[in-house]
Amino acid sequence: MIFLPKKKKRSLKSDALTTFGLDPDRLPVHVAIIMDGNGRWAKKRFMNRINGHEKGSKTVRTVVSAARELGIAYLTLYAFSTENWARPKAEVLALMQLLKKFLVSERQDLQEKGICLQVLGQMEKLPEEVRNQALETIHATRNNHEMTLNLALSYGSRQEITDAVRAMTKKITAGELTAEDICEKTVAAHLYTGNMPDPDLIIRTSGEFRLSNFLLWQSAYAEIFVTHTLWPDFTRDEFIEILTSFQKRDRRFGRVECSMPSDG
Ligand code: IPE
Ligand code: IPE
Ligand code: MG
Repeated sequence: MIFLPKKKKRSLKSDALTTFGLDPDRLPVHVAIIMDGNGRWAKKRFMNRINGHEKGSKTVRTVVSAARELGIAYLTLYAFSTENWARPKAEVLALMQLLKKFLVSERQDLQEKGICLQVLGQMEKLPEEVRNQALETIHATRNNHEMTLNLALSYGSRQEITDAVRAMTKKITAGELTAEDICEKTVAAHLYTGNMPDPDLIIRTSGEFRLSNFLLWQSAYAEIFVTHTLWPDFTRDEFIEILTSFQKRDRRFGRVECSMPSDG
């Protein structure tokens, strides 16, 4: 049997959310963001793509802070895909350096804000020094409950599903699971997001209308919002606007009325 955690408490008072025009009862529990457009941001300014990534990492800070302030329980940021390893070596190296810097520089802030860091993806593929900093931050923040920040690093949804199939097959071979036992909840529990609710809202910046191998299983009923804003230009105000727009969507989950699926 799989036990899903209870929904986390909102950390911002209802009246404060109302000042942003947000309904505290209709906030997404889990927001996932495909942070795209760093390269184009730099190109527009005749700068190196790496300058775009540097500026983009500042936006990460802003959005993490805003999500925490608004009481979003889970924030997942797509920072590096399995396919991104095929980029030029210098760009991959710069991204890894930025990542390491972020993991060190934000550790204390995450602690102070009560944010728990988790990594979704192939941690073993990350350079050792990045992996060690990630493990240290994960360890340091493991008891924080105000918000969970998932960094999707060396993440690919197809790889994640393949890993889940392999793990379930091993359990069947070991006699710990039978084929008949496998249901949707079993599959979901073997994904990197095993103990988390599915994203309610997926935001993609830079105007691309695709998922690029991101949370394919988990996004089954996510609301998708694409903005043309390039990630380095994305702001807290736009984040709030998107949340406002999310609250106006009619989530039917295949039914005929506006209703939420029951837990059963
Ligand atoms: C997103 O920005 C960052 C990563 C994928 C690591 P891009 O680097 O993809 O920027 P564009 O799409 O080239 O503008
Ligand atoms: C998706 O962006 C991956 C991340 C944001 C980390 P990409 O820029 O890699 O995606 P494509 O190549 O445009 O699909
Ligand atoms: Mg891109």
